[in-house]
Amino acid sequence: MKKYNFNAGPSILPDEVIKKTAEAVLDFEGQGLSVLEISHRAKYFQPVVDEAEALFKELLGVPEGYRVLFLGGGASLQFCMVPYNMLATKAAYLNTGVWSKKAIKEAKGFGEVIEVAASTNSIPNEYDIPQDADYFHITTNNTIFGTEISDAKLAEIYAKKGEVPLIADMSSDILSRPVDVSQYDIIYGGAQKNLAPAGVTFVIIKESCLGRVSRYIPTMLNYQTHIDGGSMFNTPPVLPIYTALLTLRWLKANGGVKWIEARNKAKAELLYDCLDHSKLFTPTIMAKEDRSRMNICFVLKPGYEDLQDDFFKFATERGMVGIKGHRLVGGFRASCYNAMDVEGVQALVNCIKEYEKLH
Ligand SMILES: Cc1ncc(COP(=O)(O)O)c(C=O)c1O
Repeated sequence: MKKYNFNAGPSILPDEVIKKTAEAVLDFEGQGLSVLEISHRAKYFQPVVDEAEALFKELLGVPEGYRVLFLGGGASLQFCMVPYNMLATKAAYLNTGVWSKKAIKEAKGFGEVIEVAASTNSIPNEYDIPQDADYFHITTNNTIFGTEISDAKLAEIYAKKGEVPLIADMSSDILSRPVDVSQYDIIYGGAQKNLAPAGVTFVIIKESCLGRVSRYIPTMLNYQTHIDGGSMFNTPPVLPIYTALLTLRWLKANGGVKWIEARNKAKAELLYDCLDHSKLFTPTIMAKEDRSRMNICFVLKPGYEDLQDDFFKFATERGMVGIKGHRLVGGFRASCYNAMDVEGVQALVNCIKEYEKLH
């Protein structure tokens, strides 16, 4: 039976990327060695990092003066590296859920933190950004509750941030749509949703944004170290970086970020439309402009809640994997990252409709 992988992360990767990764584990690009056993310093691997950085820049239209780094530690380490490197006195954060909260908690260890607004089931936009903040931090996609900052709301943020540097956690929507990188000083995220297996973190950083804090920054936590070392200051996560490169090549070959945005839009419309018209289910996010295209959360309507386990079993028997909602939300969550195709979402829609006929 074909399996449809809706896991929230680590999550689905393109079939061909997984196959080519498996091939490289046996024989890395015809070198007669596994990608697992080559030195990162070897002449074999430098081109991988160079091409991954170049493709990332090309696909997202990253302007001159930025670097793309591939680091360890996950997005969670960035919650601390960002304030370590950037927070001198005061930072502003938009709290859109669990991940923003974790970022806020770390920042509080370094200075004053202003939480400009908070909501888990919509994206607030009635707030000011303090113009004396060292930076303003946003989480563009709320993986757990299923909200996402729309292009329109991002444009509002760009307009009202003034000269305040903007920093974004894009763990769960990177490369899912075009983004105006020039508006940001730092964009970071764990790669295990739209790019690679777990183990590598991407950081897109404007080189000129550093040097504004006077504290000692431990070597490994200092962005400058990794800029100077070209992501090779210490042994990098070689295999996830190689897979990230394969995913970037896949994205480019298929038409790039505009192509994937159109496909992601079509998938989200298909599933939300089914849920909006469903007898049994309802999406949890009612504000349509704030709905995530990546993580689509839904629950059973009042009166039907008892069907929770039954539907889960029904869907599992039809190949749906990873659709259980996060424990904070309950119900179901279908994560429709870049590698999920329209056919997969259609299979879930068919499954929901088939189930409805039984009730
Ligand atoms: C939006 C967001 N930020 C941060 C994280 C944490 O990432 P990591 O596990 O790489 O530290 C996640 C993980 O799911 C996430 O979804």
